[in-house]
Amino acid sequence: MPIEHLVIVGGSSGIGFATARQLLGLGFKVTITGRSMQRLDKAKNSLHGDLRAIALDATDAAGMRAAFADIGPFDHLVLALGSTKGAGEFSTVSLDLVRSGFEEKVFAHFASAQAALPLLRQGGSITFISAVTAHAAMPGTAGIGAANAAVGALVPILAAELKPLRVNGVSPGVIDTPWWDFLAQDQKSSVFADYAAKTPVGRVGQPEDVAQAIVFLIRDSFMTGHTLICDGGIRLGG
Ligand SMILES: NC(=O)c1ccc[n+]([C@@H]2O[C@H](COP(=O)([O-])OP(=O)(O)OC[C@H]3O[C@@H](n4cnc5c(N)ncnc54)[C@H](OP(=O)(O)O)[C@@H]3O)[C@@H](O)[C@H]2O)c1
Repeated sequence: MPIEHLVIVGGSSGIGFATARQLLGLGFKVTITGRSMQRLDKAKNSLHGDLRAIALDATDAAGMRAAFADIGPFDHLVLALGSTKGAGEFSTVSLDLVRSGFEEKVFAHFASAQAALPLLRQGGSITFISAVTAHAAMPGTAGIGAANAAVGALVPILAAELKPLRVNGVSPGVIDTPWWDFLAQDQKSSVFADYAAKTPVGRVGQPEDVAQAIVFLIRDSFMTGHTLICDGGIRLGG
């Protein structure tokens, strides 16, 4: 079987990085991308296998088309980039931050997937990453939840429109990644302890938990139009 090539937008840390590691271990050729070359170099130094790292900004649609043309044909795309903007109580949340959150997540996912299309193999796949905020009715997440719901809405539409390309999504719960680095370490520990107590499996997630769900969707050629919720059950309420 020919070696399959996976491109991860947002592969220098967290869920994207863990996905790169698992698929390199399975013999895939992997290209990781992100904005910071420094972070990409650091990631590259701790991964082994057929790996390339390319700096790009997914909010720049023209730049994405050029970057994908440089990468050349590939089989699978994982969109593991996101935004921390747009969280907060509905009555007071800044509309500018909500708009930035949409730009940095929804637009960036949309633009990346669109730019990748001419290079993606017909029987390959796209995996979007949304979030539990899209469907868990958590107060204080209207802005960020709406953006993640928009990403989730793309999955079945594109699965139908782009067939035979497969299009899936993963919706993570609270995962211990650098996404949370806007909090000081002690605040982060306390927030994670609180979320762990509300999560049926009794802990927050690790990036490897979500990477396993992504790897499943990439490898199972009968899966399309589906979003796997990988949240330890936190959406069920605690
Ligand atoms: N962690 C959680 O609790 C959680 C929960 C639910 C959903 N999610 C979602 O899961 C996805 C992955 O998050 P994570 O937790 O793994 O975050 P992370 O560790 O912060 O990783 C984000 C990755 O995306 C890259 N990135 C960010 N903006 C980019 C842009 N405009 N263009 C290209 N690359 C960009 C980052 O590198 P650079 O900064 O160098 O660009 C990094 O490689 C996100 O969509 C996030 O919303 C996370």
